[in-house]
Amino acid sequence: MTSDGQPKISSRILKQFLCSDQFFGLRQVPVSLKSITEALAARGATQSGGGVTGCSASLASTGGKAARLEALNKDHVQNCQQCRLCEGRNNTVFGAGSPDARLVFVGEGPGFHEDRQGLPFVGKSGDLLTRMIGAMGLSREEVFICNIVKCRPPNNRDPQADEVVACSPYLYEQLRIIDPEVIVTLGAPAAKTLLETSDGIGRLRGQFHEFTLSFPDGTSKTIDLLPTYHPAYLLRSPQDKGKAWTDLQMVMKRMGLPLPDQSK
Ligand code: URA
Ligand code: SF4
Repeated sequence: MTSDGQPKISSRILKQFLCSDQFFGLRQVPVSLKSITEALAARGATQSGGGVTGCSASLASTGGKAARLEALNKDHVQNCQQCRLCEGRNNTVFGAGSPDARLVFVGEGPGFHEDRQGLPFVGKSGDLLTRMIGAMGLSREEVFICNIVKCRPPNNRDPQADEVVACSPYLYEQLRIIDPEVIVTLGAPAAKTLLETSDGIGRLRGQFHEFTLSFPDGTSKTIDLLPTYHPAYLLRSPQDKGKAWTDLQMVMKRMGLPLPDQSK
C-alpha cells in the first residue's frame, strides 16, 4: 500500500499501460517531476477517461517474436522523440539477443560506445557482462540484453524519472513479446524501476522478487526478477564480484542450468 492508501499494484499496472500513451499519442509527462511515482501519477491523470485498453494491440498480437520486436524498434523506438534524451543521441539502442530468450538482462541506459554502435553493453562493462553470461554457460546470442532507456543520458548520468517514464513502455512491450522466464536487472536504476521501490541495490540483490507484467486485456503474469550489481560498479568494486556470481548462480538454478562443479 502507498501512503495515500492506494494499493501498489495500481501504479505498476498503470506504468505498463503507459504504452497506450505513447502509441496513441497522448501528451507527454511534464519534465519537472521529481520522482517516477509522481510522474506516473501525473500521467495516470492524463489517461483517466481516455481508457488504457488496446495498448499496442497490433504489436502485441501479430507476427512472430522477431518480427514484433523489429516492428517495435523500427516503427517506434528508432525515431522516438518522447523525451529530451533524443536530442543528444547518435543512435537509439533497442537491445540485442534472442527474441526467444529465457533470460533478459536489463541495464540502465546506453553509454558512449553503445550510442556510437547502436548496440547494448559493448563498452568495458559490456565485456564484463559478456563474461558474466559466459560464466553461466550461456552466450549473448542466447539471452536478450536491453536497458531502461534507449538513448544515452548526457555524460552517462542516471536517467531522470520522466525519461524513465517516457521510455519504460518500450521495455514492457519487449518483455511482453519475449516473455522470458527470468529477468536480471543490472544496477539500482533498473531494479528500482521494475520493482517500484526506493530500496538500494545492496538490499535488493541476492533474492528473487516477483515482477508483475500486465497485458492490455487486463491479464497479468509474474516473472522471477533477480537484481544484481551493474558490471560498471563491479569494475570499480571487484570485491563484490563474488556476490554477483552468487546471484547469477541463483538464476542458473532457477533456470535448471548446470552449476559449476564445486569440487574442481
Ligand atoms: N551500461 C548500461 O547500463 N547499459 C549499456 O548498454 C551499457 C552500459
Ligand atoms: Fe524515446 Fe526512450 Fe529515447 Fe526518450 S530515451 S527519446 S523515450 S527512445
